[in-house]
Amino acid sequence: MKILHVTCSPRGHCSESLRLSKNIIGCLLNNDPTATVINRAVAGDVLSQVDEPYATSQQSSADVSQEGSIARSEALIEELESADVVVIGTPMHNFTVPAALKVWIDHIARVRRSFNVGAEGKTSLLRDRPVFIAVSSGGRFSGEHPRQPDFLTPYLKAVLGMIGLHDLTFFTVEGTAFGPEAVAQARSKTDQALHEFFLTNTGSAFGAD
Ligand SMILES: Cc1cc2nc3c(=O)[nH]c(=O)nc-3n(C[C@H](O)[C@H](O)[C@H](O)COP(=O)(O)O)c2cc1C
Repeated sequence: MKILHVTCSPRGHCSESLRLSKNIIGCLLNNDPTATVINRAVAGDVLSQVDEPYATSQQSSADVSQEGSIARSEALIEELESADVVVIGTPMHNFTVPAALKVWIDHIARVRRSFNVGAEGKTSLLRDRPVFIAVSSGGRFSGEHPRQPDFLTPYLKAVLGMIGLHDLTFFTVEGTAFGPEAVAQARSKTDQALHEFFLTNTGSAFGAD
């Protein structure tokens, strides 16, 4: 089994979403110790924004340079296609994903490659596979009384669904701005949910057969 680990926090090794996504990978490796992990860290300006030929290719099928962003997009889509399971670690930035993760998405969501547009709208071209999304946020955005809007989870469901990834499972550590005690509580609640999930979903679901 191949696991693609995508991370995007600017906080490096202090990142809460990195910590949570590593825990998810730990559970996957428990399930299948032979699994391999491909790390795709996109924080900062590791990936530049899509260029002019890429943008042109999104609105017409005219011949454009296949170098630059299109070549980078091709490599990132092939990397995604090669994975059996995807784990994305992301903080919430201004109610949605950080710009760095959005740039990765702009590269993997490419018309006539990972999705098509036709009379019936957008149709996906990639094979579905399990995607785990580890989210950390300074405040709370889920539960009974969320204190802010959440454009992150509906956005990821829509855009990953557009290219064929529908099997999404979200785990969150919310309220990291509320101090160390609140963070410890949030971590322990999420770690428990994670272990319960992997106790009930083991074996062939994650390629361990
Ligand atoms: C630019 C920026 C925007 C942020 N916007 C939000 C937000 O909209 N909602 C929220 O709850 N936290 C927000 N935060 C706080 C982060 O989500 C929080 O610190 C999170 O735990 C960081 O995760 P990380 O350690 O993986 O980077 C923001 C942080 C930054 C740097």
